[in-house]
Amino acid sequence: MQLSSLFLLLSLAILYRIGQDQVLSLENGLALTPPMGWMHWERFRCITNCTEQPNDCLTEDLIKGQADKMVSEGYLDAGYVYLSIDDCWMSKQRDSKGALVADPVRFPNGIKALADYIHSKGLKLGIYEDFGKATCQGYPGSEFYLEQDAKTFAEWGVDLLKLDGCNSDVHDMKDGYEAMGGYLNRTGRPILYLCSWPAYVQKDAALTDYPAFKKTCNQWRNFDDIQDSWDSLYSIIDYYGSNQYNLSAFAGPGSWNDPDELIVGGFGLSQNQEMVQMGMWAMMASPLFMSLDLRNVRPESKALLLNKNLLAINQDPLGKQGERLWKINKAEVWIKPLSKPGASAISILNTDNQGAPRVFHLSPAELGLPKAQKYNMTDVFTNKQYGPYMYSQSIQFTIDPTSMFMAIADPF
Ligand code: GLA
Repeated sequence: MQLSSLFLLLSLAILYRIGQDQVLSLENGLALTPPMGWMHWERFRCITNCTEQPNDCLTEDLIKGQADKMVSEGYLDAGYVYLSIDDCWMSKQRDSKGALVADPVRFPNGIKALADYIHSKGLKLGIYEDFGKATCQGYPGSEFYLEQDAKTFAEWGVDLLKLDGCNSDVHDMKDGYEAMGGYLNRTGRPILYLCSWPAYVQKDAALTDYPAFKKTCNQWRNFDDIQDSWDSLYSIIDYYGSNQYNLSAFAGPGSWNDPDELIVGGFGLSQNQEMVQMGMWAMMASPLFMSLDLRNVRPESKALLLNKNLLAINQDPLGKQGERLWKINKAEVWIKPLSKPGASAISILNTDNQGAPRVFHLSPAELGLPKAQKYNMTDVFTNKQYGPYMYSQSIQFTIDPTSMFMAIADPF
């Protein structure tokens, strides 16, 4: 081979490689603040027997009904824009061309028609698939079909893909999740990419590659599924508190740690505990995917989901994930810097379940706030103003069991 043709071949190879890298890295311009929406899983699970549970069965009508409420009850106006269908939406078989099909009984008009309906309401549609041979509930997975499935989702008008990791080999995940990110980008349709990959490899340090998660995904699950209980909720908060320096470094505009859905409005939490979830998800700049039946919401739960102070903290453009400053004797202090110069959100969490409120004495300095002469505080739940407090002045906080105080602290 002549030197010139060898050179040409080499250049082509390099160009091809660069081309590949360009489509592989996820720069879809989405999720500049933590994504917000509704996701069916925690509340509606894999309920597919519509005779037995007509009201909770996963159908096109259920999804449309939730979409209607997202708009009419003000959730969309507050920023909850994605409506995401999770596992169990599919037929058990692909069609003769290998394409995914929605369950013909529960989704008789198919996903494209549903996407059109969702879009007509000003919402965006999310869908679920799995990187392995089958989804966690045994429906067809994307293994060997990644590219075809990415194209199908784009043709249907899907705006979000949650890619789970059941029934797959964890060693294939890095290549596979990156490849799917590339295929999604190549469709030309902006599709928010939610990866479960980190949750499947979290116990294996060799496979836990946060720079790769961040480069590939807009949002990623790190840990266990949330269940409808305080124990489950607190185990998740404690996971992030204990791992914060590893995890908060990778959160920011475009890419977020995902502690799973909001269970506010479910069956398992007290009103105080619902405040803790909403407060901590705001604190941790977590994606806010509600999982509740929007046809029937307690007013206190709705007020929390729409609380303007909490949403402003969660959506703060600086995109800092809050960190736990300390945890002593069933009490914790968390802090999140905000984009307004010097301002922070602070939380004091009382995780004790003894049946009486506890008293804490803490100064702005002890809450970890940056040095300033004085601070004012706005209680995010009541919107009441407190202060001014001198930097070293001890303040009394009286906090119920499994509850929290949370405020925006403004220096002056
Ligand atoms: C896994 C995920 C959940 C949900 C289910 C569906 O457990 O972590 O969020 O998607 O699968 O089967």
